[in-house]
Amino acid sequence: MSAPLPINFAKPDADALAAVTGRIALLLSPDGKSGALGRRLDRLSRGAIARATASAAWDRLKAGEGVDIAWPAGLQAEALQLVKLPRRATVAEARKAGATIGKALGAGGVTVVAEGQVRLSDLALGLVLRAYDFTAHKTSGVKERGAVTILTADPEAAEAGTRSAMAVAEGVCFTRDLVNEPANVLTTTDFASRLKAMEKLGLKVEVLDEEALTKLGMGALLGVGQGSESPSSVVVMQWNGGKKGDAPFALVGKGVVFDTGGISIKPAAGMEEMTMDMGGAGVVAGVMRTLALRKARANVVGLVGIVENMPDGRAQRPGDVVKSMKGDTIEIINTDAEGRLVLADVLWYAQERFRPTGMINLATLTGAIIIGLGHEHAGVFSNDDALSAAFLKAATAEGEGAWRMPMGQAYDDMLKSRIADMKNTGGRPGGSITAAQFLKRFVKDETPWIHLDIAGVALPPGETTLAPKGATGWGVMALNRLVADMLEG
Ligand code: BES
Ligand code: MN
Ligand code: ZN
Repeated sequence: MSAPLPINFAKPDADALAAVTGRIALLLSPDGKSGALGRRLDRLSRGAIARATASAAWDRLKAGEGVDIAWPAGLQAEALQLVKLPRRATVAEARKAGATIGKALGAGGVTVVAEGQVRLSDLALGLVLRAYDFTAHKTSGVKERGAVTILTADPEAAEAGTRSAMAVAEGVCFTRDLVNEPANVLTTTDFASRLKAMEKLGLKVEVLDEEALTKLGMGALLGVGQGSESPSSVVVMQWNGGKKGDAPFALVGKGVVFDTGGISIKPAAGMEEMTMDMGGAGVVAGVMRTLALRKARANVVGLVGIVENMPDGRAQRPGDVVKSMKGDTIEIINTDAEGRLVLADVLWYAQERFRPTGMINLATLTGAIIIGLGHEHAGVFSNDDALSAAFLKAATAEGEGAWRMPMGQAYDDMLKSRIADMKNTGGRPGGSITAAQFLKRFVKDETPWIHLDIAGVALPPGETTLAPKGATGWGVMALNRLVADMLEG
């Protein structure tokens, strides 16, 4: 995987600044004031910093944004980047400042002068997340990223203070790699083995194969995968860092490694994006990785349904009726509404086996959620106001957009089937909500539950504050915080 960039911390040495090569990033409060190191840099560059921060261009910068002085006179550095950051920066501002530095980072590396900054771990998190590149399939033209050194009075304390942020960064990068990976590389079997490999982090990982899933009666999930040459599976990842024997919290993910639509095949334009249709499972995997890396004091189980939705002589047809593990029968109206079929069985299995204290599923489930919320917010559907509020609070704190959507009996009624217990689609109106209602049929009344429709936020069309164009890893930070707040607090 693309491991996040390592960050070094070092004690500042004002006399060494003139000889620093690569880039120097200097954090400055909006009034342009700096500490002793900043004043030394200003003297060395003969007042360039003072002039820059007195300019209208500096005034126009928002907190976290920066401006470059290229090839500064008096310094060996190739660039001096002035980054505006209030001394009492918010989490979002500190991460944005880090992202500004990380985006500009080149082969020569960067030395960050962060005098008096208290939010170093957020700065570091923003830096490594924005410096992420997915280069696995580039044979040339890869932008090199040199070493990152943050100058701070107490390097040991700073290092210890960033450890859990780096566990988060690694989880997010793991998710991004999985989501960015094409489906001929991230096949169902490859996906399962990447998850199995997380055993070395102390997670307990089981892969249930098609034979096991057949025995369990997972007809809904198996129907989706039956047109593919790659075998379907369910992977169960357990992190037991909490009290022994306490019921876990469950995270469930849709892991469709490629969604052609099946026999209800999708149009060609944009179909290549359906390599991201395992995004929900990718987020579950990233959260589990983070929890293991930071040795979270909580019991959490992650379950993902891994399938490929292909058209084939053996593929399931519109009009077919399948039987779910729960026992309910489903009439397949559209084979492209496959994610809910996968989740139905994994949600049921999660509850039957683990009796979780709560359950959150993530899925790139509907195009309709993109129409409703664009790429700024994931859709939040829930049967529990308290859990929903706790999640929304965590998401807001992490700057990950999330918006609660309505549910209700009238939407559920749209799933009535003439020949089976339900249909797998409810028509175009309220398409994201009827999809959520479908999932709710596989959630027990006593299980507090949230469904997150992440179709719009997993792979937005352009770069975001903390990610280059491509997979964002949306949700890893919010769910990690929810676990910390709710289960470790
Ligand atoms: N994976 C898609 C949803 C999707 C669309 C994710 C765009 C990311 C971007 C899902 O399996 C799907 O095809 N949903 C259908 C449901 C419909 C057939 C009821 C959709 O949204 O069109
Ligand atoms: Mn589909
Ligand atoms: Zn899909």
